[in-house]
Amino acid sequence: MSLTDQVLARIDATFDAAQQRWIDWLRIPSISAQPKHAADCRAAAEYACKELASLGFDAAVRETAGHPVVTAHHPGPGGAARHLLYYGHYDVQPADPLELWTSPPFEPTIVDGPHGKRVYARGAVDDKGQVQMWLSAFRAWFEETGTMPCRISVMIEGEEETGSVNFKPFVEANRAEFNQADIIVISDTGMWDVNTPAISTSLRGMVYMDVILKAASRDLHSGMYGGSALNPINALTHALGQLKNAEGRVMVPGYYDGVRDISTRQSNQWSALGFSEDKFLGDIGLTEHYGEKGRGALERLWARPTCDICGIWGGYSGPGTKTVIASEAGAKVSFRLVPGQDPNAVIAGFKAFMQARVPTDAKLVFTVHGQGQGLEIPVDSPFVQAAAAVLEQEYGKPAVMTGCGGSIPVVETFQTALGLDSLLMGFGLDDDQVHSPNEKFEVTCFRHGMRSHARLLGRLAAK
Ligand code: BES
Ligand code: MN
Ligand code: MN
Repeated sequence: MSLTDQVLARIDATFDAAQQRWIDWLRIPSISAQPKHAADCRAAAEYACKELASLGFDAAVRETAGHPVVTAHHPGPGGAARHLLYYGHYDVQPADPLELWTSPPFEPTIVDGPHGKRVYARGAVDDKGQVQMWLSAFRAWFEETGTMPCRISVMIEGEEETGSVNFKPFVEANRAEFNQADIIVISDTGMWDVNTPAISTSLRGMVYMDVILKAASRDLHSGMYGGSALNPINALTHALGQLKNAEGRVMVPGYYDGVRDISTRQSNQWSALGFSEDKFLGDIGLTEHYGEKGRGALERLWARPTCDICGIWGGYSGPGTKTVIASEAGAKVSFRLVPGQDPNAVIAGFKAFMQARVPTDAKLVFTVHGQGQGLEIPVDSPFVQAAAAVLEQEYGKPAVMTGCGGSIPVVETFQTALGLDSLLMGFGLDDDQVHSPNEKFEVTCFRHGMRSHARLLGRLAAK
């Protein structure tokens, strides 16, 4: 029996304890966006720090201008061992609307599903469940051998879901502590389906902005003033309504500057995956393919930029009527970017776009919450090869190479500040309801993910 096989056997024998550590972590409502949960964010950081310390890591909770970061280092067995840097996030998205949850978001609930047991909770898969997979793989190696098979460093941050605004400067300020690693290992993306593992080869970037339109000095009677005074909601929606044309093209000037068409090879590879947009949309109660005309479904999700209004407010939305012209209105707008687009140009372009479409009396106030470029992940590295090999061993079929429509903002900083590539080996499913009510993670995905991580460590130790 190889060492890796012994570790895998230990993972299976101690599975319940790993599941329990995952569930206990999920009980902490570490919502990074909401200041009232700051203490919970710290508690979630302390939880991970304690786990790492118990595995022989030199672990610490470190301060930033925002939520703290967990860092840890383990020298491994010494000698020629590889140095792997694991990254994940302990923060979660807000859980609302709470009334749509079938069990409370921070009381993890185990339920039977078509793939066996699943755990419902905010953060079940994104990202506490996925981080716990590699923490538990570390534990199995530690218990089996008394050390780690490779040299390991760890960063678990608390602001991924708000754009890593304070974590990026932390990485830059602590460059020398982390830039000696060979690769960054991340589990914060998805599989192709429950039986087919995947490695993600791209991430979309993002610009996320608030825009507030202010008009009169107070709210107004809509009978007394309607027809004469500027209405901020009308003006804001008039401008926002022009963001996309009927062909699904984003109309911000210069938006597509630098965007490259995918290669024929890429297009063929994605076609061969046999993606059904009908099923993808059918699962969420939709029928019509929406988005940029003349582009493939996966191309639109993985290789084309887009723009979505994520929130909008203003005026009265309580029961019955209130005849009022609000003094201001606002919206949250996200731009998903692909490699080649310049986030600063998108910010400037959006400001100019809005300014050109509102009346003189409208005062626009913009806030930029986060920005990052779209990224390509090199696939010819030995680490991607190693990950593909262990995933094939674990699942009995090859891993597929996919793009990822989501964003992990700090991955760009890892490239620029640390000079390190990332390996995106994720175990989520499309129906995990990330960021939605009833987020869940399949126990089988958690288990195979843990075993895949244990295999990866064993394989990289051997080289
Ligand atoms: N884990 C996700 C990224 C992701 C999303 C991977 C969908 C695979 C599929 C990550 O936690 C996330 O949600 N990122 C945010 C970043 C944003 C707040 C800057 C995102 O993509 O919206
Ligand atoms: Mn995530
Ligand atoms: Mn997320």
